[in-house]
Amino acid sequence: MNNMKKKFSTFEIGSFISTTIYDDLSLSPNTRKIDKQIGNLISSIIKNKEFTGKSNESILLRTPQTNVLLIGLGNKKCISNDKLRDAAAKASITAKKLKTKSFSFNHDVSDMTNDYVEAVVQGSELGLYNFNVYKSNKKDFRPLTMNIIIKNKTKTSLTKSIRTGEIIADAIMLSRDISNLPSRDCTPLQLASRAKKISSNRPLKTTVFNTDKLKKLGFGGLLGVASGSQQPPCFIIMEYNGGKRGEKPIVFVGKTITFDTGGISIKPSASMDEMKYDKSGGATVMSIMQAVADLKLPVNVVGLMPATENMPSGSAYKPGDVITFYNKKTAEILNTDAEGRVILADALSYAQNYKPRMIIDFATLTGACVIALGNAVSGLLGNDKKIINSLFESGERTGEKVWELPLTNEYKKLIKSDIADIKNIGGRGAGTITAAAFLSYFVDDYPWAHLDIAGTAWTQDGTPKKSYIKKGATGVGVLLSIDFLRNL
Ligand code: BES
Ligand code: ZN
Ligand code: ZN
Repeated sequence: MNNMKKKFSTFEIGSFISTTIYDDLSLSPNTRKIDKQIGNLISSIIKNKEFTGKSNESILLRTPQTNVLLIGLGNKKCISNDKLRDAAAKASITAKKLKTKSFSFNHDVSDMTNDYVEAVVQGSELGLYNFNVYKSNKKDFRPLTMNIIIKNKTKTSLTKSIRTGEIIADAIMLSRDISNLPSRDCTPLQLASRAKKISSNRPLKTTVFNTDKLKKLGFGGLLGVASGSQQPPCFIIMEYNGGKRGEKPIVFVGKTITFDTGGISIKPSASMDEMKYDKSGGATVMSIMQAVADLKLPVNVVGLMPATENMPSGSAYKPGDVITFYNKKTAEILNTDAEGRVILADALSYAQNYKPRMIIDFATLTGACVIALGNAVSGLLGNDKKIINSLFESGERTGEKVWELPLTNEYKKLIKSDIADIKNIGGRGAGTITAAAFLSYFVDDYPWAHLDIAGTAWTQDGTPKKSYIKKGATGVGVLLSIDFLRNL
């Protein structure tokens, strides 16, 4: 939970102020006031071209009167919520470094909008995010108060946006926390307990199917992948009814592989540790459910999380095995490392029971997606142009970018099997598309979109270089989905 208080205030010189500047280098009234207080240092730095206002540019001015962080925002016409989120993260990170209890954020705009407030609140929180569960010294300085400078203090509609921004930031941090946890401390059953805990004080209902129930229901995919592991699998269902009674729900599905060794088709050991992040899809879905409930969105939403490890052992499923899924379709397993699609097949089939308005799944599904799109953009595939377009727009608005890959019939043919309905790998090419083609066999005609977040769910080097994203899990998909749901 965040504990930094955010409040609106009119301008006054304080211990630490951050202020944004566009590349036209015009100073807003507040920035001019600051400039005057610190002996025209801002003007002279601009005059000497030591600061040009480009985005990603920032400079800290330490003066006897006050510390001032100038943050470049680039072209005024290209201002976005994401740039403000980034700027606010820069401000809170600097406040932390300076160990100031309170700091002010001033943005060169005549009027703060609700969108901006949300983004600024999110940025300031996410910038301070730190996964320190395993540090023996957990003491971490956090600024206590953030003053968001506005012209008129009495705007109650903006106050609501502070809370909204916090709720979304909390959900993103929840997703990061779950993804960042090592697999031995985040087993399928531990995840189920967490889902129940999240539901305990919210309008959410959580149901967990254990191994017996999965056997009864015929979840052959989830049980097949789980058969090599000592950890029992489970299927976590979270339901939220904020919409009209009987209104069809939007179903989110998240790949929740708590660790992916590859199974019998074992992965090389280099970087295998990163496969603790293979539960990121599920982490994001659980966090979406938390945010949807806290925001009290007027929609019905269901979150489905098939959870298991993928391990090699004497009892593991093997290449050549044939699996029967919840919807009675069969697949020949030719590579046990293509396990995500195998557990998602059961979950997507189960989603049909809701007669959903649409299905959206998140999965760290293919290495091929990282090759195709790198770490800045998630892969997007599906059967419904309207959802695809809306998700694309949400991506542009939030900065969690997505790009569509073609899911045409040619690719669906590539996964036909000689002995079963389909096989779990295609050929050498188009790995992200053949994986989605496999999933498409389990969604029937319901509107569906699949997001391959293999490249975006975590970052090794900070790509995409944003101040509110650090090495480790990113929590990608939460911001995107909440924006999508609010703009339905
Ligand atoms: N979890 C991996 C995908 C992955 C790999 C995500 C690297 C992020 C980084 C997935 O289960 C997997 O192993 N997929 C295989 C599929 C292949 C065997 C058809 C892959 O991408 O190599
Ligand atoms: Zn795998
Ligand atoms: Zn995997």
